[in-house]
Amino acid sequence: MGKAYWNKVMSDAASAGAVSLFVIGDRLGFFADLALNGPTTIEELARRLNVSERYAKEWLGAMKSAGYVDFIPRSKKFRLPNGAKPVVADESSPLFLAGALGLLWETFSSVPSVIDAFRSGNGIPADTYSKRMSEENARFSSPWFNNDLVNEWIPAIPVIEKGLREGIKVADVGCGRGRALIRLAKSFPHSHFFGFDAFPPSIEGAKQNARAAGLSDKIEFQVLDMEAGLPGKYDLITTFHVLHHASDPDATLSLIRNALEPSGKYLCLEFPSTTNLAKAVGATSTFLGASSVLYCTPTTLAKGGFALGTIGLPEQVLKSYAKKAGFTKVRRVPIRSLLNALYLLSG
Ligand SMILES: C[S@@+](CC[C@H](N)C(=O)[O-])C[C@H]1O[C@@H](n2cnc3c(N)ncnc32)[C@H](O)[C@@H]1O
Repeated sequence: MGKAYWNKVMSDAASAGAVSLFVIGDRLGFFADLALNGPTTIEELARRLNVSERYAKEWLGAMKSAGYVDFIPRSKKFRLPNGAKPVVADESSPLFLAGALGLLWETFSSVPSVIDAFRSGNGIPADTYSKRMSEENARFSSPWFNNDLVNEWIPAIPVIEKGLREGIKVADVGCGRGRALIRLAKSFPHSHFFGFDAFPPSIEGAKQNARAAGLSDKIEFQVLDMEAGLPGKYDLITTFHVLHHASDPDATLSLIRNALEPSGKYLCLEFPSTTNLAKAVGATSTFLGASSVLYCTPTTLAKGGFALGTIGLPEQVLKSYAKKAGFTKVRRVPIRSLLNALYLLSG
């Protein structure tokens, strides 16, 4: 057991190193270059990316050890292994994971504050975290919005798909950089979309993204704290990984329900989780648990109230909050995803 535990911890030490190297390679364009140009020498890569040959050599060697790149001894060239491109170099792919690593990496600079917070019990305000978090979060969630949202999730609920086609009023609360609304607005030109987020730089980024997509007239973005209520009434309200950030989930669900038209629907995406700790094992649970300790729990505690954390809304918990808020119908929508659980609330 001692040796097996040592191996496990050593493997995590290696993973921490690989994450750091991954972020360096991602931000310097190494993965994109290797995907575009195929097998390449150290010198060619360094020249094309305008980086130091010495550092490129060290990075390629370490990433070969980590299994992120292959080395071809005969030609002394490096290349991405089969299957790597959609995961590390294609932001439109449903398998793209650079945002997940980038997002986690951005929380690491707050670890000293998190250690202090453990001692004091205080929270850490979201706006003291790295400014790059909202951008990396958008890269993390974009693969779902660009692929699953309109191809799988919306078609799984025909009444919403029909409404969107015919033209309804939609609010995405905690919209981040607006990626979900931009995708919806492209697919459903007769509907009108509103995006709200409490973090001003995200709304600024969302406006820029909508302008770049030529959709400024279809989507209105506004800085707004959902815990203060929503302006207007909507046929569809969505939150994508946002409800667990509420310092008072009961009250927030009531505010969302009050902002729905009588036949309106609320689509809530949360992380899949369980109240049974024996079942919370493996890579997904570890990733979500780390996000919870490093970001979701301290930032929600900073607002007062209590903090659900990243994994604080498993199906049974969400259903009991929804019932208290007055929703009469709550159902889990079956989707194929390791990182997402989708719920439809109405009534
Ligand atoms: C995990 S991010 C998800 C962003 C976006 N929905 C996505 O999936 O890419 C959570 C978002 O909720 C926003 N948020 C958290 N608390 C909020 C509140 N009280 N009111 C409005 N937005 C909030 C954050 O600023 C952040 O953009």
